[in-house]
Amino acid sequence: MITGNKPVVLLGFMGSGKSTLGKQVASHLRWSFTDLDQYIETEQKRSISEIFSNEGESAFRQIESAALQKVLEKSFHVIAIGGGAPCFLENMEIIKKKSRSVYLKVSESQLATRLAYSNTPRPLLKGKSEPEVQKVIHELLLTREPFYNQADIIIESDSITADLIVSRL
Ligand code: S3P
Repeated sequence: MITGNKPVVLLGFMGSGKSTLGKQVASHLRWSFTDLDQYIETEQKRSISEIFSNEGESAFRQIESAALQKVLEKSFHVIAIGGGAPCFLENMEIIKKKSRSVYLKVSESQLATRLAYSNTPRPLLKGKSEPEVQKVIHELLLTREPFYNQADIIIESDSITADLIVSRL
C-alpha cells in the first residue's frame, strides 16, 4: 500500500484511461480525485475546446500549467492530467518533485480504437479521419514518450486496472 501523502498523478496519451482509472484508484485509497481538464473548465468557466479555438494551444498550456501547480499542492489526492500536460513548460519536473507519477502505457492500436469510439471533444483530433488520427497518435507519441517515460511507475498493458495501479504504488 502507498506510503506518504504525496498526490498520485496519472499521465499518458489521450484515451489511455486516466480519468476513469483515476477515479477508481482514488476510491480504493479513499483519497480525493481531480481531473485536471475538468478543473480547468470549472475555473475558466469555458470548455477546453473553447480555450483552444479562442486563444490557441500555447495559451491553453499556460493555463494548464498554472492549474497543475495548484492541484499538486493537495495531499491525499489522485490527479488525472491531460495527455499533453507532462510535455510542456516545466510540468514534468514539477510532477516528479511533487507527486508519485504513473504512466499508463497503452499501445498505439488500442489508443486508436478507443479514440475512434470516444465522445470526449479533443481539439487535437477534431475533424480527423481514422487514418489521420493514427498518424497523429504515432507522431505525438514520438515527442511525448520521452516525457511520459520519466514517470516513477510505468504500467504497460492494454487492459490496465485500478487494482494493478494500486498494487504498484
Ligand atoms: C490534450 C489532451 C486532452 C486535453 C486537451 C489536450 C493533449 O486531455 O488536455 O485536449 O494535448 O493530449 P485527455 O488526455 O484527457 O484527452
